[in-house]
Amino acid sequence: MQFAPSLFCADPLNLERDIRALDALAISWHHVDIMDGHFVPNLAIGIETALAICKNAKKPVYLHLMVERPSDYVPIFAKSGAAAFTFHLESTFNPFRVASLVKETGMKCGVAINPITPVERIKPLLSIIDLVTIMTIEPGFSGQKFIPTTLDKIKDLRKLADDAGSKLVIEIDGGITPENAPRCIDSGADVLVGGTFTIFQKGGSLEENFNKIIPDKKSSVF
Ligand code: DX5
Ligand code: ZN
Repeated sequence: MQFAPSLFCADPLNLERDIRALDALAISWHHVDIMDGHFVPNLAIGIETALAICKNAKKPVYLHLMVERPSDYVPIFAKSGAAAFTFHLESTFNPFRVASLVKETGMKCGVAINPITPVERIKPLLSIIDLVTIMTIEPGFSGQKFIPTTLDKIKDLRKLADDAGSKLVIEIDGGITPENAPRCIDSGADVLVGGTFTIFQKGGSLEENFNKIIPDKKSSVF
């Protein structure tokens, strides 16, 4: 199982401490949620903080943009050192244009889809994108309950990518628990984002939580 902690769930007053602790673990990347208060009804990890994370984190940084007008943010992160820039398919009428802009910067390009968005909409983009984030909750808040119907979407997307000969990396985001994690992996997920119910659960240190929930540690897919 490959795992990416959501820094949205880190202690905001001890962000650097948490990043250092996570850097020492076998995580795939730091998942960094950026919310603009419009695409989702929440504000999170601001640009300056995200840039500082990109500069200082030792593990790769995966930007998950939950924003309107995602192309506005491509130049901002172009030289940030972020490994991947993921925008929501629902946030633009021109996903090919946004994806091209992202690829020109050298960052890997990902597309995220909300629970209601069919995976078939990804098919035309497979030749240009590297990653897909399937949301298993409505984006905007951590601590929500996993939506079980999204499991079929993971299976369908994996088949769609395999049939197209694509090496697509599938990340799953939202409500991941030790109970539903194996079902996500069995359905074809590569990387699970963890927050409230896994690495940041109360009671243990990040290292203790990680060792408890990730028995089979593999290195990054990047
Ligand atoms: C929500 C974010 C997630 C979230 C994960 O919109 O994209 O990354 O923080 O947290 P949990 O695991 O608590 O759902
Ligand atoms: Zn996220």
